[in-house]
Amino acid sequence: MNSCDLLIRNCRIAGGPKSSSGMSNIIITNGTITAVEAADSPVLPAASRQIDAEGKLAAPPLIDPHLHLDAVLTAGQAGFNESGTLLEGIRIWSERKKTLDAEDIKKRSYRALSWMAAQGTGWVRTHADCSEPSLTAVKALTELRDELAGTIEVQVVAFPQDGIYSHSEGERLMKQAVEMGVDVVGGIPHNELTREDGIKDVEFACSLAKDNGLLVDLHIDETDDDHSRFTESLAAYAYKHGMQGQVTASHATAMHSYNNAYAGKLIGLLQKAGVGVIVNPFDNAILMGRGDSYPKRRGITRVDELLEAGVSVGIGHDSIMDPWYPLGRGSMLEAGSLLLHLAQMSGFRQIYQVFDLLTSESARIMNIEDRYGIEAGNPADLVILNADNEYEALRLRSECLYLIKGGKIISTTEPAASRIEFGPQAGPVDYSPLT
Ligand code: FE2
Repeated sequence: MNSCDLLIRNCRIAGGPKSSSGMSNIIITNGTITAVEAADSPVLPAASRQIDAEGKLAAPPLIDPHLHLDAVLTAGQAGFNESGTLLEGIRIWSERKKTLDAEDIKKRSYRALSWMAAQGTGWVRTHADCSEPSLTAVKALTELRDELAGTIEVQVVAFPQDGIYSHSEGERLMKQAVEMGVDVVGGIPHNELTREDGIKDVEFACSLAKDNGLLVDLHIDETDDDHSRFTESLAAYAYKHGMQGQVTASHATAMHSYNNAYAGKLIGLLQKAGVGVIVNPFDNAILMGRGDSYPKRRGITRVDELLEAGVSVGIGHDSIMDPWYPLGRGSMLEAGSLLLHLAQMSGFRQIYQVFDLLTSESARIMNIEDRYGIEAGNPADLVILNADNEYEALRLRSECLYLIKGGKIISTTEPAASRIEFGPQAGPVDYSPLT
């Protein structure tokens, strides 16, 4: 190979060494990774541009498989959620969404996505509330997806926030959202009026997706009620109708409270049905357990048990400053770090596993795994993080030095520099451990 567009030298590739030194070079031409070679390779191609990664971590871009872009940056605009409950969040959002227009949604979305890109996120699955007859959020977010093509890649979910059968227009609006070009069909069975309507919600969403060749991603069992068991219905539908790999259960917080015998049966069914699960640690740490006295549950689904059984698990940011969660800055490494704590995944192997949830596991859930990963022949999509390995990336919630999509650098960050003026290590602060 004589020349290339971009040569990234001296990086450590997530998932293991490519050479005895652990350092690799990544060679990119025409938006594609053409080779990944040991950094001590004697022949280097001439490159239009070079990046010396100085031993830092190269990984495929981080993925946020669960976000509500239509609601981002609205915290406080129709009142703050003082009770901290899911239901007060829905009530505040129902007020705020009366004044939504496409420009408002896009402006806030671009701001939030600029934060996410700056911190290494290259793919986002966003839910678009389709409970309003105008379908403003669906229109705005499908347009935004198309405008962003080639940079941050977006999947849009038709999300019936107010239920499909809780008002008379639900089915029609879902079908219309599909006609408008969403990528994924959503649902919210636990929010329907009755259990029977919840089952209908699951079946309608799956059959609408199947008829239109779309994926399924339901908000499901997002409650502390251990009798809320729609995830089982979803998995059974996926299994019986051959939808393995195309269906996702988002939130599934009730699984935290199921008895172990039932949870074991359900997790086995999810694995058999090829249904993925998305955990949303920011929102659910805040929203769940609000009806408890002490001890108070944290409604984090059973991530360790799901992974042990071979179920794909992704981590979502879910909210960034909205009526459900008033904080956040679009950092998927922070979401991963919070999950690591709440799910008690602090074992050495588990820390690396959490990094996988932010990358390869979420790629499986978004059905992009065939073009995802730092390998020759794949699109040149990657990040260089300011960390030596995945463990350090999560510990430091490290900066993203570069986000590269299709061979183009789409975000850069200058690392922060701090100094101390006392003691034997006076000078620039080094956050790496002493060796
Ligand atoms: Fe959500």
